Amino acid sequence: MKKFVFATNNAHKLQEVEAIVGEKIEILSLKDIGCQADIPETADTLEGNALQKARFIYETYHRDCFADDTGLEVEALNGAPGVYSARYAGDAHNSEANMRKLLQDLEGIENRKARFRTVFALILNGKEHLFEGIVNGQIIKTRRGTAGFGYDPIFVPDGYTQTFAEMGDALKNKISHRAVGAQKLCKFLNTL
Ligand code: IMP
Repeated sequence: MKKFVFATNNAHKLQEVEAIVGEKIEILSLKDIGCQADIPETADTLEGNALQKARFIYETYHRDCFADDTGLEVEALNGAPGVYSARYAGDAHNSEANMRKLLQDLEGIENRKARFRTVFALILNGKEHLFEGIVNGQIIKTRRGTAGFGYDPIFVPDGYTQTFAEMGDALKNKISHRAVGAQKLCKFLNTL
């Protein structure tokens, strides 16, 4: 069985990818390989951050591995908050403050088009591969729903009327940017 390290501490992401990857591939978490390092994420693109995290694992542990990075890209804000989505309002991982800032920045702006974009970076036998998942949608004006995390209460994906936070994890995880990216990654892994 082929083994890959997924460079994340997020149990939810791990489960999401494990559910897609099937039985031929084993995924190890950072915990499984005894990695407690605070892996740097200092690039200014999603691709750069995903590669930075994967390279850290490859160079430190010499194992096949992959990492992901996600951002919310708002058209009227020239792609912001993008790679800075987690700390848009300054405070790392303060979703309430991030949503408040985004809604303020979009006040009076009619174009509400946005997309979530995830990049997976895989390093296999020293060779790097990138996979991208995108979900297009709209930023609404007031929060709706309580499921999910991050910007979910203000994002309605195209083709749906509910926000990610209203539809709940089961549906969201089928159609999300991460799911689309993970499916591409898994399709590639399953051809090995
Ligand atoms: P990460 O790369 O998965 O850590 O995502 C960076 C930031 O993007 C998170 O802190 C969230 O603010 C936002 N984000 C990522 N994925 C989602 C999602 O599925 N829903 C809402 N916000 C997300």
